[in-house]
Amino acid sequence: MRKVPAGVGPKYPQVVVLVGATGDLARRKLLPGLFHLACAGFIPALRVIGVSLDDLDADSFRTFARKALGEFFARTVTDADWDAFAETLDYVPLSAGADALKAAVDRAEASFEGECRRLHYLSVPPAAALSVVRLLGEAGLVERSRIVMEKPFGTDLESAVSLNAKLHDVFAEDQIFRIDHFLGKEPAQNILAFRFANGLFEPIWNRNFIDHVQIDVPETLGLGQRAGFYEATGAYRDMVVTHLFQILAFMAMEPPTSLEPVPIGEEKNKVFRSMLPIAPRDVVRGQYIGYRQEEGVDPQSDTETFIALKCSIDNWRWAGVPFFLRTGKRLAEGQRIISIAFREPPKSMFPAGSGVGAQGPDHLTFDLADASKMSLSFYGKRPGPGMRLDKLSLQFAMRDTGLIGEVLEAYERLILDAMRGDHTLFTTAEGIERLWEVSTALLEEPPPVRLYEPGSWGPKSIHQLVAPHAWRLPFERSWRDPNATGS
Ligand code: BG6
Repeated sequence: MRKVPAGVGPKYPQVVVLVGATGDLARRKLLPGLFHLACAGFIPALRVIGVSLDDLDADSFRTFARKALGEFFARTVTDADWDAFAETLDYVPLSAGADALKAAVDRAEASFEGECRRLHYLSVPPAAALSVVRLLGEAGLVERSRIVMEKPFGTDLESAVSLNAKLHDVFAEDQIFRIDHFLGKEPAQNILAFRFANGLFEPIWNRNFIDHVQIDVPETLGLGQRAGFYEATGAYRDMVVTHLFQILAFMAMEPPTSLEPVPIGEEKNKVFRSMLPIAPRDVVRGQYIGYRQEEGVDPQSDTETFIALKCSIDNWRWAGVPFFLRTGKRLAEGQRIISIAFREPPKSMFPAGSGVGAQGPDHLTFDLADASKMSLSFYGKRPGPGMRLDKLSLQFAMRDTGLIGEVLEAYERLILDAMRGDHTLFTTAEGIERLWEVSTALLEEPPPVRLYEPGSWGPKSIHQLVAPHAWRLPFERSWRDPNATGS
């Protein structure tokens, strides 16, 4: 595995207390991520203590972790790397209590020479978060530590305010890292680079030139093993309050004075403060047919597995520009795009039937997949006689740069940042509370869920929501494949 230069990661050895260690996220992302960070040399030394409700011992946790790597680690796992990582793993069932946890952390720390730090990663549902925080306090594990809190952070304004207050009884704000893994995605950070490192687009990044914005994250995935979590959470809390609004803030914020946590947090929070409350009439909630028959789901469930909504940012830059957000499970395609539609020019000079404007306005599109892509689509002349216009595009794919192997998976990047104490890509208490505040009317009076066919693009009423515009997905044209043969 590629080794990184010294000094990129944290200075001190790390003990990670991974709570929710046998959960879906740990299996899919956190254990593979920690494995990669450790083997590639990002962390000077590491010990991982798995904690969960399951009654395992250290060996069975190692077996669990090895299986997770087999399923979800994208690179090759060599025997040498695995043996080294396996040695760093330990396990304490939650039922063993504070003393047993403290003893395991002491053992892990004794294996290091000199100073070290603790990273508590809480991969647990909102209802369980506080009891774990108290356990960490009781075990005396607050000192030298940082705590990563998974989303959703609370379930509404009241619970988020109360969670923040109680969290502050145990941890200081600078120890707390509220994670939103979408902000750890390389292309999300590239929005900042693209907007603020170039002279071309920022001057037109406003209501005078931009007609509307779509942030669209359809997923083909279903619930996996997460029915319990999902049934109590739903698409709005799982994806919109967290990921989609955070991406929206990167897209919409004013230039921060520097790319540091406080200036970035301030600009994001200003966007959230200017956001108008989400009106239930601007929201379509959907549920895929068959959801209620899934194991662990209430047969009468009202949980939405799909949500599309319109929101507005009432400030000088964005007033009057609708932002359309959509996400859901079991949809036709898995995509993560931000699509920015520019205002259309006067078209009367073009002859009738020229095709100008026929395929929607010109667009800038960001694809937020790890192998990020960007495209600028525009009208151009079709070769030959007369004036017939086609929609053409300029496309960029990170894959073509040969640097794709350098990309850190979002969780890896954020775990590393938390270990280094860098809050830049984490969300603030104020920002999260404001997002719950604008969500209050919707949470109190949600529109009824409408059923949709798995494999579709959601309930039919999404077209009314976006009219007179149209959803950009599915794309009319596909991304260019550089390896494709043909003319
Ligand atoms: C998670 C949500 O935070 O993000 C999941 O809980 C969702 O429901 C996932 O599938 C999507 O993340 P990614 O990185 O695969 O786009």
